[in-house]
Amino acid sequence: MSPKNYCLIGHPVNHSLSPIIHNYFIFHAKLNAGYVCFDIVENEFEKYIDLLRNNFDGFNITVPYKEKIIKYLDEIDIEAGNIGAVNCVKNINGKLVGFNTDIYGIKITFEKYNVNLNYKDILVIGSGGATKPLIQYIKNFSYSKLDIVNRTVSKAENLIEKFKLKKTRAFPLEYLGKNEIYDIIINTTSIGLEGGWFCKMNIEAKEFVFDMQYKLESKTPFLSQINVEQFCDGKIMLIYQAYKSFEIWNSISLQFDLTKIIKQMRG
Ligand code: ATR
Repeated sequence: MSPKNYCLIGHPVNHSLSPIIHNYFIFHAKLNAGYVCFDIVENEFEKYIDLLRNNFDGFNITVPYKEKIIKYLDEIDIEAGNIGAVNCVKNINGKLVGFNTDIYGIKITFEKYNVNLNYKDILVIGSGGATKPLIQYIKNFSYSKLDIVNRTVSKAENLIEKFKLKKTRAFPLEYLGKNEIYDIIINTTSIGLEGGWFCKMNIEAKEFVFDMQYKLESKTPFLSQINVEQFCDGKIMLIYQAYKSFEIWNSISLQFDLTKIIKQMRG
């Protein structure tokens, strides 16, 4: 059988850990396949679509193309359509079908920590591409309150409208300086990952804090700002969104050891 080709497209992708994760799955499933990264600058994006269609069995999409890819697809899965972002494409005999597997990574993260969102007060920080699958996931629950904080408040308001969210309010970033208490706090932005978390934080979390950012060796800057017993960064989400893509592409399941993958990611 001819080898299967998979890749990640985005910009920038030079530091992506996706090839390590996918090649781990490929190796353990004993598949004849490979996974590489393509850094595509914005004005060349369209040019690559035919190359992907003609040479790859599937591909992942990361920032900033998760929404832009949609108009080039032949079909889109219902959930990905509702979310409005695609991070996984399966090539079925030249037909490109889009999925969103980030929501699976989010689901597994909450499940691993036994966190149920019913009757909870929830704070979400950010209103970008990574926020959409989270909101779609949160909508499955009867939360008590959902507040969304974002630098551009209108983007948070747009999310409330798009997802027809109930019991939800939008606030500017300065809100994080207030002494408010939530059950669950989730950071979906990638701000401050290198320079440290940049704004005053007085918000408290009683049960769980999830930061979609990740660091391989230490706490993320955001998690360092909040005192809570139970917290998680974005590594589990990253690994499980990749695993779901692997399942979609190959129509097989695989048992794997999370700690071994994280060890490989550390190098
Ligand atoms: P992604 O697809 O990773 O979510 P994005 O769509 O560009 O990327 O969204 C990034 C998020 O981080 C947004 O919530 C953005 O706020 P705006 O909606 O106001 O742009 C937030 N963000 C990025 N850089 C920021 C900064 N320097 N200060 C505050 N918020 C920032």
